[in-house]
Amino acid sequence: MPHNALDFRHRAQLTERMDEPCSREQLRACLRDLARLNRWFMAYRPLLHWLNAVVPPPKEPLHILDVGCGYGDGLRRIEQWATARGIAVDLTGLDLNPDAVAIAAETSPATSRILWASADVFAYTPAKPIHLVISSLFTHHLADAEVIRFLLWMEQHARLGWFINDLSRAAIPYHLLRVFSRVAGLDPLVQHDGPVSIARSFVPGDWQRMCGAAGLRDQDVRIRGFAPARLCVARSKPQ
Ligand SMILES: C[S@@+](CC[C@H](N)C(=O)[O-])C[C@H]1O[C@@H](n2cnc3c(N)ncnc32)[C@H](O)[C@@H]1O
Repeated sequence: MPHNALDFRHRAQLTERMDEPCSREQLRACLRDLARLNRWFMAYRPLLHWLNAVVPPPKEPLHILDVGCGYGDGLRRIEQWATARGIAVDLTGLDLNPDAVAIAAETSPATSRILWASADVFAYTPAKPIHLVISSLFTHHLADAEVIRFLLWMEQHARLGWFINDLSRAAIPYHLLRVFSRVAGLDPLVQHDGPVSIARSFVPGDWQRMCGAAGLRDQDVRIRGFAPARLCVARSKPQ
């Protein structure tokens, strides 16, 4: 689809190349450069901000499940966060793609205690109770009806709350990322999928509608933008 034909009032019906069959080497290069973008654009900040501000420490280790963990960089960042604060955590990274899970495991330091699992989240039965479900750049891979299903899944499985970290759909970041990813010489999959991810993502009204469809009231969730181009949905369950 030509770039000027995109209508940012609606989620684009486009496919990402990482969702199509590719070799483990191609996926590794794509996920590595995605992790670079995450670092350069401070993508971990919204979740760490929420973890610091909102999460009450449970008596047992805090079990965090990262859905669509990809390269695992987000969970490794949380492991550093927990170590620095002396917070006991059990961390599980879940991804549909077994190659992503293998790459996340091989990229982690030997000292890491993160567990990696490969499954479709909707078919996944957690081995032990989950306190928090988190995801980053995951929900835009789903159709609206699946996002609502994911919201219901998190409501059912997360004891304390959940946090969605995804992109904000708008024309300017779409075009900026298109140019930036080329100039920075990022992997061809990222050059394609990065801007497409923005076009497939959300605006606050989408989240209000989908949260409402999942039975959540406005006061149950916090929808907040973070520069650059992130839109997050946070849910802290009353204890
Ligand atoms: C764009 S990557 C995000 C990686 C990482 N979280 C990040 O922020 O860079 C999205 C990941 O979601 C995974 N995924 C897609 N559908 C899934 C599902 N139904 N269950 C679990 N993982 C899924 C894909 O395999 C992919 O690795």
